[in-house]
Amino acid sequence: MTNSPLHVFPSLDELSVAVADAFCRSAAEAISQRGTFRVALSGGSTPKRLYELLAKRELDWDHIEWYWGDERNVPHDHDESNFRMVSEALLDHFPSAQANAFSVPVDTNDPVRSADRYEAKLKDVFHGQAFPQWDLALLGMGDDAHTASLFPDTAAISENERWFVANYVPKFEAYRYTLTAPAINSARQRWFLIAGANKRDALARVWQSDPNRTEADQLVAAQVERYPSQLIQSPTWFVTQDAMPG
Ligand code: 6PG
Repeated sequence: MTNSPLHVFPSLDELSVAVADAFCRSAAEAISQRGTFRVALSGGSTPKRLYELLAKRELDWDHIEWYWGDERNVPHDHDESNFRMVSEALLDHFPSAQANAFSVPVDTNDPVRSADRYEAKLKDVFHGQAFPQWDLALLGMGDDAHTASLFPDTAAISENERWFVANYVPKFEAYRYTLTAPAINSARQRWFLIAGANKRDALARVWQSDPNRTEADQLVAAQVERYPSQLIQSPTWFVTQDAMPG
């Protein structure tokens, strides 16, 4: 099991409602304290229902900035684009939100330069910080225990200096774009949203890490054990019952 906060739900719908409630509370608190709520969004399919629910909530749209924690190396109108998924579920409903959405400037022919440009944007926004201090980083987990686009056996899981990189993923024979582990761990809050029985085994392995291991040792272990989701420090887990290890 995990030592971090864990919330278990019977269904993805109920998980998404709970996360939407927490998101609204967190955004209101950040805006009242710091004037802006900066969130790094997760892609894939799990968070789509959350984004659809947020589109129906009363949010202070003018003071929320939307970023992507990872992206695929495809045009923004491609059906695999995380930008397209978030836009259709949420941002297209609010022109002001689109104005505050900062997507990865994907040039499929030059993924390294695309990542460098996005990293420069982030360093401009989080000027002077060692790593980007998001108010919230939303994360998913694959059935191979990857998170963002930090896939097992890829260079990015060992990157501890850069904020955002192009990461070649052999199993896809393609580049992905991703925040690095330190650029996720620098977030004030890190929430995993995990649903589906196909995630159960990976979650069991991610939680199997030795709770007595120091965080530094755990970072090394994660890279060795190739369960990149272990790289994320002190997350809050939002998990459906069917994804819970037996
Ligand atoms: C992506 C995501 C990725 C995702 C996991 C889980 O771009 O695909 O950011 O890290 O969270 O792959 O994806 P599902 O939610 O579709 O299972």
